[in-house]
Amino acid sequence: MKINNTPYRTVWFDAGNNVVSMIDQVKLPFEFAVVELKDYKATAEAIRNMTVRGAGAIGATAGFAMAQAFQSLKGTKELQLAKDFIEATRPTAVNLFYATNKVFEAGMAGVEQAVVMAQQIADEDAEGCRMIGVNGNKLVAANSRILTHCNAGWLAFVDYGSALSPIYAAKASGKEPFVYVDETRPRGQGARLTAFELFHNEVEHRIIADNAAAFYMSKGEIDMVITGADRITANGDVANKIGTLEKAIVAKEFGIPFYVAAPFSTFDFATASGDMITIEERHEDELLYHEGLDANKQLTSIRMASPGSKGLNPAFDVTPAQYITAFITEKGIIKPEELATYQ
Ligand code: MRU
Repeated sequence: MKINNTPYRTVWFDAGNNVVSMIDQVKLPFEFAVVELKDYKATAEAIRNMTVRGAGAIGATAGFAMAQAFQSLKGTKELQLAKDFIEATRPTAVNLFYATNKVFEAGMAGVEQAVVMAQQIADEDAEGCRMIGVNGNKLVAANSRILTHCNAGWLAFVDYGSALSPIYAAKASGKEPFVYVDETRPRGQGARLTAFELFHNEVEHRIIADNAAAFYMSKGEIDMVITGADRITANGDVANKIGTLEKAIVAKEFGIPFYVAAPFSTFDFATASGDMITIEERHEDELLYHEGLDANKQLTSIRMASPGSKGLNPAFDVTPAQYITAFITEKGIIKPEELATYQ
C-alpha cells in the first residue's frame, strides 16, 4: 500500500543488519513513523505493546523475531527460550505460533534457512491477502454498503489486508463500495486505523459507534458484513476482536450475509472448537482512558470513566460457525460446513 505515494509494507526485515522495521501503529493516524528493532526481544515487545498488531502482521513480525534470534543466539536451549519469549506476547492470533514454529523448524537446518522461511511467511501473507481481494470482490455488488469491525486492512497484515482487501479490489474495479466502520472500543482500531486506510485509498466511509450497527442493519442500510479473524478452529468457529459476536448475531437476525476474510495461516485445524481458544485479557486502562490529540496536537490520554471504578477488558470473542455465511480465503470462498475437506 502507498502512503504519500511511497509503497510500504507494514513490517519488513533487513536480514544483513538483523533489524526489523515496522510502521508504528500506536502513533497512527496522528503521526506516521517507522520504528527499527535491533533484537528479538525488542521485536517481541513491539508485538506485546501493539506497535504492530493484527493477525497477519503479528505472524510476520514473530517470524522475523525468531529469525533475529537465530542470527544472534547459539544453542537449541537458548533458541527455545527465545521462541517461548516471543510466543508469550499475545495468545489469541494463531498466525504468531504458525510463524514461530515454521521458522524454528527451518532454523534447525541452519540460520540461513530461518531467515529465508521468515521472509517467505511475510511474502505469502501479502500474496494470500491479495488473492483474498480477488476472490472476495466476486461477492461485492456495485455500490454495496459494507460493515466492518476492528482493523483487518493492510496494517493488520503485511499488505492488502483480509476484510478490506475485497473492498480495495471492488474500489479498483469501479464498484464504489461504501463502508460502515465500527469504531471498535476500547483501542479504536476501526476509528483510527481502518478509517485511516480507507481515507488514504479514497474509499467512501463513515465511522459509527460500536452500538450503532444494529440500527443501520434494521434500516436495511447494510448489505453485507466482512470481518477478519484471529483464529478459526476446525469446526469453523472464529475468534476475532471483541464485539464481532454481537454483529454476527444481529446480521443473522436481519438476513445479512456475514463473511470472515482470512488467509489459511489463520486456520487452526488442531483446535476443535472456539471454546478451546485462549482469549487475551488486556489492561483495564485501555477501557477507562481514551487517547487522542489535545489542543496542541500532542497525543494524550484522559480518564473517561468514573474515578474509582475498575474495568474488564477481554480483547476478543468467539463467533460460532452457525453465524458465518462463508470464509473468504486465498483458495476461494469456503462455507463453514466445507472446511473439513481442507483439513
Ligand atoms: O488486538 P488487535 O488489534 O491485534 O486485533 C486483532 C485484529 O486486528 C482484529 O481482531 C481483526 O479483525 C482480525 S486480525 C486481522
